[in-house]
Amino acid sequence: VQINQIFLYFEFLKSPKYCYPTYLPNTDENNLVIHLFSFIHVTMNVFLEDPEFTDTILKAEHAIDSGVLPERISQGSSGSYFVKDPKGKIIGVFKPKSEEPYGHLNPKWTKYFHKICCPCCFGRGCLVPNQGYLSEAGAYVVDEKLGLGVVPKTKVVWLVSETFNYSAIDRAKSKGKKYALEKVPSVGKKFHRIGLPPKVGSFQLFVDCYKEADYWLRKFEADPLPENVRKQLQSQFERLVVLDYITRNTDRGNDNWLVRYEKQNDGSKNSSKETEWTTGKESLIKIAAIDNGLAFPFKHPDEWRAYPFHWAWLPQAKVPFSEETRELILPRISDMNFVQDLCEDLYELFKTDKGFDKATFENQMSVMRGQILNLTQALKDGKSPLQLVQMPRVIVERSQSGSQGRIVHLNNSFTQTVNCRKPFFSSW
Ligand SMILES: Nc1ncnc2c1ncn2[C@@H]1O[C@H](COP(=O)(O)OP(=O)(O)O)[C@@H](O)[C@H]1O
Ligand SMILES: [Mg+2]
Repeated sequence: VQINQIFLYFEFLKSPKYCYPTYLPNTDENNLVIHLFSFIHVTMNVFLEDPEFTDTILKAEHAIDSGVLPERISQGSSGSYFVKDPKGKIIGVFKPKSEEPYGHLNPKWTKYFHKICCPCCFGRGCLVPNQGYLSEAGAYVVDEKLGLGVVPKTKVVWLVSETFNYSAIDRAKSKGKKYALEKVPSVGKKFHRIGLPPKVGSFQLFVDCYKEADYWLRKFEADPLPENVRKQLQSQFERLVVLDYITRNTDRGNDNWLVRYEKQNDGSKNSSKETEWTTGKESLIKIAAIDNGLAFPFKHPDEWRAYPFHWAWLPQAKVPFSEETRELILPRISDMNFVQDLCEDLYELFKTDKGFDKATFENQMSVMRGQILNLTQALKDGKSPLQLVQMPRVIVERSQSGSQGRIVHLNNSFTQTVNCRKPFFSSW
């Protein structure tokens, strides 16, 4: 068979990297070529710098191909899915862009109508609508860059599954494609997932053995932790604070962070083993900051309905930041080049969205730089997380003059604006 005799019809999706055959006439040549091509797995989820993650997504795709489909998480406000490996084990949480609260295919209809009829009352006016998946992945960028280690790995991927919410039109189109493929013997089945268009969204690795923070915090209140574990929790907590403060997360209730704690056995029998275990480097208690989709606002929240950091009410927030956190964070965030680098990494991520707007992105970075400036000062001054969230809000803009507040020129290219106006309700 000569390749130029074969006609393959490809439909190109949003990215030219992803394509799939939509129609193939049923001829012997085509069948042979399809047989040869069937060894090639077409995917756009390739992360050259992270083969392990690439492999995880490949597993998810294979699972979907073999009928182990993602399952909607019922409690969420938008379309979030547990994604499984071919054996049915949950390996990730996928949140498609199109099923976010502002997405056009959000499965929660009451919210959808609420949005149509009364958009001003819906959602958060300080956030870029329908970019929650970027916020999820952006939080991981911040986490990784600062070495916090609290956000489970999160990246932008493309997935397709019959269990996702699709429009009637997409489903009808897919039927047509399936029909065309079924005409080609033995291949239609292999490609059964390709009828529907893939969805872009955030994919976060699933973390095992964690429970919602609320559950553990109550337990620890009744049954206080041993001192070494309490210290570890405090250190993890401070990392969560750093993440949330820098990204200005507007949705950190105590249900949106998880804690894993393996309680030590009481009793003297294994006490020697225990001591070894507890004094070892490995952490007995770990925090996972999940659900980071409502962060990176383009202005500080200033509505009557402010968005508090719920952790600010915890007793842990009254303790000044530890030396450990200071040593980890301060050298990085007090370096302008580091901050610029972070902004550039986020730019590379955010610019991939089809609704990307440079000016809005600059505003998001101005808020983030302001948060970083406050955090730097708080760490230098030995403040606590509670004192941090009470600091006046700052934005640090690139090269333009601010409109209100005290203006200080940091250097030629940045302008700092301190907003002393207190929000109606406390902003934390
Ligand atoms: N990475 C994860 N690892 C383990 N469990 C998770 C993870 N992400 C979410 N979950 C579980 O799924 C629930 C809903 O996820 P969440 O990210 O909060 O979605 P939503 O945006 O719908 O609130 C969480 O309360 C948690 O129990
Ligand atoms: Mg949640």
